[in-house]
Amino acid sequence: MRKPVILITGANGEMGHGLIHGLSKEKNTDILALDLEPLSKDIKDNVLDGVQGDILDIKLLEMLNTEYEIRAIYHLAALLSTRAEFSPMIAHDVNVNGTLNLLKLAMEQAQSQGEKVKFFFPSSIAVYGINSIEEKEKAGAISETEYLSPQTMYGCNKLYCEQLGTYFSNHYQQLSATYSPGLLDFRSIRFPGLISAITMPTGGTSDFIPEMLHNAVQGKSYNSFVDADTAIPFMTMPDAIRAILELMNAPQKKLNRNVYHISAFAPTAGEFKTAIAPYFSNVNLGYDINGKRQKIVNSWPKDVNDTSARNDWNWSPKHNLKSALNEYLIPCVKEFYKKK
Ligand SMILES: NC(=O)c1ccc[n+]([C@@H]2O[C@H](COP(=O)([O-])OP(=O)(O)OC[C@H]3O[C@@H](n4cnc5c(N)ncnc54)[C@H](O)[C@@H]3O)[C@@H](O)[C@H]2O)c1
Repeated sequence: MRKPVILITGANGEMGHGLIHGLSKEKNTDILALDLEPLSKDIKDNVLDGVQGDILDIKLLEMLNTEYEIRAIYHLAALLSTRAEFSPMIAHDVNVNGTLNLLKLAMEQAQSQGEKVKFFFPSSIAVYGINSIEEKEKAGAISETEYLSPQTMYGCNKLYCEQLGTYFSNHYQQLSATYSPGLLDFRSIRFPGLISAITMPTGGTSDFIPEMLHNAVQGKSYNSFVDADTAIPFMTMPDAIRAILELMNAPQKKLNRNVYHISAFAPTAGEFKTAIAPYFSNVNLGYDINGKRQKIVNSWPKDVNDTSARNDWNWSPKHNLKSALNEYLIPCVKEFYKKK
């Protein structure tokens, strides 16, 4: 008998940590965790099986296909935006071919189980590309269908994979005599920058905000790589995890889209610095602008209009900037570094 599980790839990453804690509170959920890196101690006990391996390893995925009955896949493994820009071919391989491997695994599972397999794909505001800062100002909070001209390899990868998932969900084998729609139930969120109090991000281009916070709490000086006026949307990691769980639990008939974007707050780098300063006795935050990374962040929207998510699955962030700091970021980040 194959073991029924849900599969999380990239399980040892920032989002994986939060998702494993969130999912392990749900009933009847045995987690199969896959990552290139060994699972860290704080999540090891929350999974049924942890596998150290590569999503590009076809033999490994075939082994998982025979050994487990995979009811849902949360495919988090990826190379993030800054790393992807330094190694675009590797990023394409991991982000696109890796995702295709997981989509194929989901469809094989659906065929053998005779049931749709749910597939969650974390996309990003990097799918958007706005050409100038004037246009970004003018555009304000954009909708899901605007400005879909990404300027990074990561953004291109995410947009294409959203489209692959939507295709396999809605149109796969449309010309075949045995056409049966819906092997896959593909759901995706384009996340803004995420801020976790318990993990330091690496390799993303929205890292300037979490890096300010994590350096400030440690009393270290830090220079943001974008200027004080730069704004993109952000949310706390607990809100992001709640969004994943809520979208995945929403009835399919309520969902008018496969891909949603969501937002919580959108401070400029300068506003974030001012907001955190009162919480620390010795803050030494400045700016050392990296023109190339600044250009990428400038191409991302100032904010997003998340009406579709609010209407279809009742999305609402718990935290605005003030409550994010008071209720989550400041107490948890202080506690985290005290324990270290
Ligand atoms: N953190 C953010 O601000 C943010 C925002 C938008 C979208 N996302 C998306 O959310 C997902 C998770 O992001 P994160 O912040 O946890 O990233 P992360 O870099 O912390 O975690 C990614 C994990 O994937 C693993 N991984 C990478 N390549 C792999 C491979 N070939 N095989 C198996 N595992 C591999 C890494 O070891 C790592 O543990 C990613 O898809 C990312 O694009 C993140």
